[in-house]
Amino acid sequence: MTEIPETMTAVVQTGDGYAGTSTGPAIADAALHLECARLPVPQPEQGQVLIRMRMASVNPSDLHFIKGEYGQPRIKGAPAGFEGCGDVVATGNGAESLQGRRVAFVVTVPTSGAWAEYAVTSAQTCVPLRPEISDEDGAAQIVNPMTAMAMVDIARADGDAFVVSAATSQLGKLMCALGRDLGLKPIALVRRTEAVGIVKRAGAAEVLLTTAPDVMDQFASLSRQMKPRVFLDAVSDQLSEQIFAAMPKDARWISYGKLSAEPPKLTQMGQLIFMGKRIEGFWLTRWMQTTPPEGQARVAAEVQARFADGRWTTDVSARLRLDDVVSGLAKALEKTDGKVMIIP
Ligand SMILES: NC(=O)c1ccc[n+]([C@@H]2O[C@H](COP(=O)([O-])OP(=O)(O)OC[C@H]3O[C@@H](n4cnc5c(N)ncnc54)[C@H](OP(=O)(O)O)[C@@H]3O)[C@@H](O)[C@H]2O)c1
Repeated sequence: MTEIPETMTAVVQTGDGYAGTSTGPAIADAALHLECARLPVPQPEQGQVLIRMRMASVNPSDLHFIKGEYGQPRIKGAPAGFEGCGDVVATGNGAESLQGRRVAFVVTVPTSGAWAEYAVTSAQTCVPLRPEISDEDGAAQIVNPMTAMAMVDIARADGDAFVVSAATSQLGKLMCALGRDLGLKPIALVRRTEAVGIVKRAGAAEVLLTTAPDVMDQFASLSRQMKPRVFLDAVSDQLSEQIFAAMPKDARWISYGKLSAEPPKLTQMGQLIFMGKRIEGFWLTRWMQTTPPEGQARVAAEVQARFADGRWTTDVSARLRLDDVVSGLAKALEKTDGKVMIIP
């Protein structure tokens, strides 16, 4: 058994609380929000585990968070990073069954983070990984895949066609693939011409280019034909509002991301009154708080089965060592088709 050191390297937040801004997940220079530090290795308390990190993913939520623009406050000096995979090397009372297991996890302890050599989290968020799951897939096993499963579940309860924005995102591709496998018809929105074929192959029934001058005419025609009632939207800008306005009665605009910094203006309030349309949000954290453990376990098992047999894979665009995160993160994020992974 390898000894656990007293201190570790971590990428920590330099900001505290909320920034009061809304600038989207783009990062110009990670040194504005993060620094590399030596910290004591955290100790697991009751129901918690200590994980030696193998790999951590960089999600848009991490970028919103370190900028102080996410749904929970930053803690200055605490490591960043919500998600990753690693080996359980110590456990608190009640979590002994996870000792020695390789797990996927999200961090639930606000003073801990996955962009570090070690992280502590609640044992409940840990998913023991099957041997055939790679560390790359393990490090991106929860946030996007669980969200994809939960949101496609919402969509399928409301008809067979649904709309997905930012469909080149990892989550967008997972939802297109899942939708196709369930016999649904995902209508994908992308902003780059090169992405059309990629998203079509991923499982979209239709792909629209948001930069096309006639995109709204194309969407209106598809909407009349396919009658999508759910819009799963990660962009949440003015075009999103127009898409929602062109959807049929009873349509639901479910905003789950804010990739665009543009605040949309509502132009069709009457549709909420006379057409039964609704605007909602989705946050995995709330879903986890409100979905019974057996429901979550079913979703986690299905997620892992899909990665194990190759129906889902994690595209990796870059790998960064912990020591290089502050200087290299902004550059690594420039390539948008895939995840940046952090390795201790
Ligand atoms: N609410 C929740 O619980 C929850 C859970 C998980 C994820 N999310 C959200 O889901 C979204 C996708 O996450 P991810 O990890 O899959 O992302 P990702 O793989 O990092 O990809 C981000 C994608 O966003 C696209 N993009 C960036 N800015 C855009 C803009 N202004 N307009 C249109 N497209 C834009 C990029 O498209 P190009 O390829 O064209 O550059 C890129 O493909 C994020 O907003 C994230 O916060 C929410």
